[in-house]
Amino acid sequence: MTCAPARLVIKYDSARPVFLLYYRLMSYLVFARKYRPMTFEDIVAQEHVTKTLQNAVKNDRVGSGYLFCGPRGTGKTTTARVLAKALNCVDGPTPKPCGGCAVCREITAGTSLDVLEIDAASNTGVDDVRALRENVRYLPTGGKKRIYVIDEVHRLSGPAFDALLKTLEEPPPHVIFILATTDPLKVPETILSRTQRFDFRRVSLGDLVSHLKNIARKENIRIDDAAVKLIARKADGSVRDSLSLMDQIAAYAGQEMTEKDVIAALGLVDKQMLYDFTTAVASRDSKAVLNILDRVFEAGVDARDFMTELLEHFRILLVLATNREAADLSEFSADQWDLYREQSQYFSVGDIIRLMKIGADVNRDLREGLDERLALEMSGVKMAEMEATVRFEDILEHLQRSQPAQSDDLFGAAEKKKSDRPILTSGLADTQPGSAPGAASEPSGLSIEGLSPGLGSRPVNLPVIESGWDNFLNLLRQRSQMLASLMSMGEVRQVKDNTLRLVFPAAGSTNKQVVEKADNLNLILGTLREHYKSNLSIKFEIDPEKNRPSNSLGNNSLSKEDVDKLVENSPRLKKLIERVDGEVIGIRKVK
Ligand SMILES: Nc1ncnc2c1ncn2[C@@H]1O[C@H](COP(=O)(O)OP(=O)(O)OP(=O)(O)O)[C@@H](O)[C@H]1O
Ligand SMILES: [Mg+2]
Ligand SMILES: [Zn+2]
Repeated sequence: MTCAPARLVIKYDSARPVFLLYYRLMSYLVFARKYRPMTFEDIVAQEHVTKTLQNAVKNDRVGSGYLFCGPRGTGKTTTARVLAKALNCVDGPTPKPCGGCAVCREITAGTSLDVLEIDAASNTGVDDVRALRENVRYLPTGGKKRIYVIDEVHRLSGPAFDALLKTLEEPPPHVIFILATTDPLKVPETILSRTQRFDFRRVSLGDLVSHLKNIARKENIRIDDAAVKLIARKADGSVRDSLSLMDQIAAYAGQEMTEKDVIAALGLVDKQMLYDFTTAVASRDSKAVLNILDRVFEAGVDARDFMTELLEHFRILLVLATNREAADLSEFSADQWDLYREQSQYFSVGDIIRLMKIGADVNRDLREGLDERLALEMSGVKMAEMEATVRFEDILEHLQRSQPAQSDDLFGAAEKKKSDRPILTSGLADTQPGSAPGAASEPSGLSIEGLSPGLGSRPVNLPVIESGWDNFLNLLRQRSQMLASLMSMGEVRQVKDNTLRLVFPAAGSTNKQVVEKADNLNLILGTLREHYKSNLSIKFEIDPEKNRPSNSLGNNSLSKEDVDKLVENSPRLKKLIERVDGEVIGIRKVK
C-alpha cells in the first residue's frame, strides 16, 4: 500500500469571495491511518504500557489475557497490533518487531489470519463468542500465536461475557486475548480478574502538540504554534481526534495552517469574540452583545461551546479579580494576559459570579429544549443589563432618602436597640407603617430608581467607581504622579448624588490639604469626569478611627441560614430584593 498522499490545493483568490478548491486523490490516506505507530517506540505518551509489554516479551512472560482500558484514540488497538507483531514477527518474539517481514506486513495491513480483530459493538451475541471459542482451537497458521483483539468489549451481552469467560479461563497455550474498552466500569469483575489490566492515558496537551508538529513537519505543513495548540486542546487527549482535526483543517487551508484557519475550519470560539462580548457586557451595551452573538452564529459556533468558553473566560477573570498571583500565566501570551487583566477590572468579584450564574443557566435552558440562539441572546442581554453588585447599604440609604417616614422606623429601631445585630433584623421585618392596604404590588414605597438598571444608562454608584478606580488612577498618574499616589492612599467610601466621598486614614491630613488645593482639585475633578464620563464631584475626609478601613462584606457572625431567615421574615426586604433582582451577599452594620 502506498502511503504518500497526493494532495492538490488550488487557492484562487483574485476574486471575492476567496475560492478554495481542495482535491484529494484516491491514494490519499487520512493522517490517523497513515501515522498509526508501527513499533512500541512510535506510540506516544503510553510508556507505562509499552515498556511493560516490551519487558514481558523480552522475558517471555506474556500473559494470555490483557485488558486495555482508556479513552478513545489513545492507542489501544494500535498497541494490540504492535504486540501481535512483537510476538509473531519472524525475528520474534522480540520487543522490536522488524515491521518488514511478511508476518509484520500482514498484521499492519490487517490481513493476518492469526490476528483476529472482533468488534464487540457489532458482534454482541453468544453465538459469535461460541464461534470464537471454536476458532480458538485452531493452531496459528504462519505465526507463533493466535491473537484475538476484542474491541469495545464492554458492549458484549451478559451470556456472551460468560462464554468468553470460559475461554479466558483455560485458553490454549497458543492463544492471547487482548480486550479493549473505553468503559472499564462496564466490564464484569470476572473478566477483570482474569486479565492483566493496562490503563491508557488521555494524552497531555504538550505531548499532542509535539506529536502534531512532528507530523506537520513530515507533511510539509506549515502551522503556527497557536494553531497546533488549538487543535490539541480541541482533541481533548485523543491522538486520533487530533489527527482527524488536522485532516479537516488541511482540507480547508492546505499546507499552511494559521490559528484563524483552525478557528474557522473547526467552528471554534475566537478569543476575540469572548473579549468583545465581555467588553459589551461591561459597558452594558445590549445591542453590541447581540451583534457579537450574530458573529458567533455566523461563524458556525455551537452555542454550548460558546458558553463553555465564555464561562472559562469569566473564570480566568474571577481568578484574577480575587488573587492576581495565583493565576497560571504560562498558557497565555503577554498580549492575551494584558487583556485578561484589563477585563478583570471591569467587574467586582460579585459581578463575575453572577455573570457566571447567568451563563450556567443557558445549559439548563438548552436541555429544556430552548432554541440555541434564543437562549444565548437572552442570557447575553441579561448579563448586559445586570446591575453591578449593589451594596445593600446603598439601597438602604437610598430608601432612607426617598422614604423619610419609614426610615425613622427602619433605622430608629435598630439604633435604639444598640445591639450588635445588623439593622435588618428589626425595622425591615415589620410591615410598612406608611403603606396603604393592598399596596403590596404598588412599588412606589420601594422606589429604587437611582439604583435600578437601565439600558445604556450606567448609574454612577460605588461599584462602578470602584471597578474603574485603578484605571482612573492610571490616567491621573499620566498627568500628575504625585496626585495619583496621594489619591491612591484614600478610599472611596460612598457615592451619593454624584459626589464621591474619599476618606484618608488618620495620618493623611496633609494629603487632604494637598488634594484640596484649587489647581490640584481641578485636575482631579477633570480627570474624574473624563474617565467616568459623568459630572462628578468629590469630597475629602479624614477617618480619625481607622488607619486602613475595612471594606469586607459579610464578616459577621450571621450564617447563610440566618440571612435566609431574615429575608424570609421580612416582606419588605424580600420585595426589595425581587425588585432589584438581587441577592444578599453579606450584611454589615451601618455606621
Ligand atoms: N499513543 C498514540 N501514539 C501515536 N498515535 C496514536 C496514539 N494513539 C492513537 N494514535 C493515532 O490514532 C489512531 C487510532 O488509534 P487507536 O485505534 O489505537 O485508538 P484506540 O485507543 O484503539 O481508540 P478506540 O477506543 O476508538 O478504539 C492511530 O492510527 C494513530 O494514528
Ligand atoms: Mg480501538
Ligand atoms: Zn517482522
